[in-house]
Amino acid sequence: MKSNDLGKAAVDDVTIEVPTVDDWDDIYATFSAGINIDGDPQSLEAERELFEPERSLIVRRGDQVVGTLGGNTRQIAVPGGVISAAHGCRGAVSATVRRQGILTRLMRRHFEDARAHGEPIALCWASEGRIYHRFGYGVSVRRIGLNVNSREATVPQAPRSGRIVEGTAAELRESLVKLYDQVYADQPGWSERTAAHWDYRLADLMGQRAGASALRIIIHEGEGGVDGYALWRVRGNWAATGPAGEVVVVEQVSTTPEAYQALWGFLLSVELTRSASTWASSVDEPLFYWVGEPRQLSAHLCDALWVRVVDVPKALAARRYATPLDVVIEVTDDFLPVNSGKWRLTGSAESASCSATTDDADLAFDIRALGAVYMGGTSLSALAGAGLVRELRPGALAAAAPAFGWHKTPSAFEIF
Ligand SMILES: CC(C)(COP(=O)(O)OP(=O)(O)OC[C@H]1O[C@@H](n2cnc3c(N)ncnc32)[C@H](O)[C@@H]1OP(=O)(O)O)[C@@H](O)C(=O)NCCC(=O)NCCS
Repeated sequence: MKSNDLGKAAVDDVTIEVPTVDDWDDIYATFSAGINIDGDPQSLEAERELFEPERSLIVRRGDQVVGTLGGNTRQIAVPGGVISAAHGCRGAVSATVRRQGILTRLMRRHFEDARAHGEPIALCWASEGRIYHRFGYGVSVRRIGLNVNSREATVPQAPRSGRIVEGTAAELRESLVKLYDQVYADQPGWSERTAAHWDYRLADLMGQRAGASALRIIIHEGEGGVDGYALWRVRGNWAATGPAGEVVVVEQVSTTPEAYQALWGFLLSVELTRSASTWASSVDEPLFYWVGEPRQLSAHLCDALWVRVVDVPKALAARRYATPLDVVIEVTDDFLPVNSGKWRLTGSAESASCSATTDDADLAFDIRALGAVYMGGTSLSALAGAGLVRELRPGALAAAAPAFGWHKTPSAFEIF
């Protein structure tokens, strides 16, 4: 039985601990209830394999579990390299004890834990953005959802030398893993995938189908071997005027334009379908430039990956910069004051270093702005336009803004 006494007393009788493997069922149930789903035995077991108790926190009130926050140890690609980052997940506090500072306490522990593991940044996907600003996260990767009118968008037809092969997860897994590994390290926003991550990705849980078919997998074989794949589903539908099915693209990866064109050509022409949707395409999705009628992509822009810089000098030295840069930034970080202060950052496409300085600052901003620009897809100039970055030396913004960008737009399509 859970009481609904929303008084301040509740917070005094909770304890926050590192859980053990035996706490998984309670953690899963608490998080499922928190995000308003029932949970199911299949997901419970599949997600158990990704549970890292030593990186997680559990909130107890007597013998009840009333909150949790998880962390995954994982690498992520950033501009110019791959770094370790705390992948935050499963944050929930029961309604009976909410708004009494429990998530705030969990976040403090999560950031301390990230620093202790030498991780310069923490990441999360937000159920609601407004939860995370106060903890110092900024929107670093955006995504676009597409709802393509397959008939009207029209794709160029060209003779193709490769071929598309369909198969099961067991048959094609090796090709998918190889291709993803080839691509991810050079694509800011993509996280490494271990065997356990692939198990989960290909588990094809009923709870993830949302009324669509089982997962379908195709690969593209080009002249040099497998150079692309797509994971997709199909949602059958009939309208008064005839078939109105929808292809639901879960993930599409390719290393050559031939593979990209062939896979999309396939996905936009599946029999009895009239549309194709993606949930998290890149903001710089090539489809925009390739289809005949880009307006027919019906794009919807949204936040994707939020970045929280937990160690300023380490984080800034860990990524690379598109143009040579020598700048002093003044950072304000009320939640993690160790980051507050003036930092000299020297960087280029080859190397970077960052250390505390007493020199005058060129730019000043809050830690959230640093998280927002970290992956190279949010511009310092846009943040300055909103008053979130202040230029203290004329010309500093024009020099620093392109340096913080990157030649590859960050993207992210995997909620962890
Ligand atoms: C989001 C959630 C974890 C917050 O837990 P909590 O213990 O109530 O959070 P806190 O009490 O530490 O809140 C800290 C501050 O954030 C604010 N806040 C927390 N959640 C908020 C929300 N959803 N919307 C707006 N403000 C929110 C609080 O009002 C509080 O503000 P204050 O310091 O000015 O009083 C909890 O409401 C929850 O489980 N929600 C459903 C699941 C969910 O969305 N999880 C996130 C998954 S990404």
